[in-house]
Amino acid sequence: MSKETLSLVVLVSGSGSNLQAIIDATANDLPAKIAAVISNRDDAYGLERASQNGIETRVLNHKPYPDRETYDQALMALIDSFQPGLIILAGFMRILSPLFVQHYQGRLLNIHPSLLPKYKGLHTHQRALEAGETLHGASVHFVTEELDGGPVILQAQVPVETNDTEERLAARVLKQEHIIYPQVIRWFAEGRIAINNHQLEMDGKPLSNPVIINT
Ligand code: GAR
Repeated sequence: MSKETLSLVVLVSGSGSNLQAIIDATANDLPAKIAAVISNRDDAYGLERASQNGIETRVLNHKPYPDRETYDQALMALIDSFQPGLIILAGFMRILSPLFVQHYQGRLLNIHPSLLPKYKGLHTHQRALEAGETLHGASVHFVTEELDGGPVILQAQVPVETNDTEERLAARVLKQEHIIYPQVIRWFAEGRIAINNHQLEMDGKPLSNPVIINT
């Protein structure tokens, strides 16, 4: 029985270690293919990782665009030229306009290095340490118009250790990101997760709380 392979476009701004985890998973048995990797920065190492794996790359620098909407429209046209079934934000460090988010409603995923809804935005590890959290982690969610908002599908919980530093904690969280992102893409490819009438569903039933992996 052959199923159509899910086509992905991955957006990156930096190192692309999550991209690498997805590349590795597709080389293994993840039923998805990366059609292109797009970055807003020409120095993003993620582009290099894509090229090394024979994946098409594009750079769309945001700087020449007069405003967010105009850039996002150009980005949408570029993404759509690859006709992806799913768009993956993998360290794409731009705020997205409502126009963009609405266009990809239900097929736009993001990964964020915190246990959402805690610590939206930047410096999540440092903020979790400063707050004295005993549990931190990462979340994969469908994207809505709210920054780092949208229904969370899967979280990896990472215990904070005594004398943890931001770097050590970040490294342990990142390791888990590389597990949970391919997992959620697999669920999407298998048709197990979807947004229906603004409600996250798993296996056809509402999923009110994220699935949690303890590490
Ligand atoms: C990851 O930790 C990801 O969760 C975070 O950027 C990093 C990208 O690393 N994303 C966000 O903070 C989005 N709000 P990578 O380029 O090595 O995958």
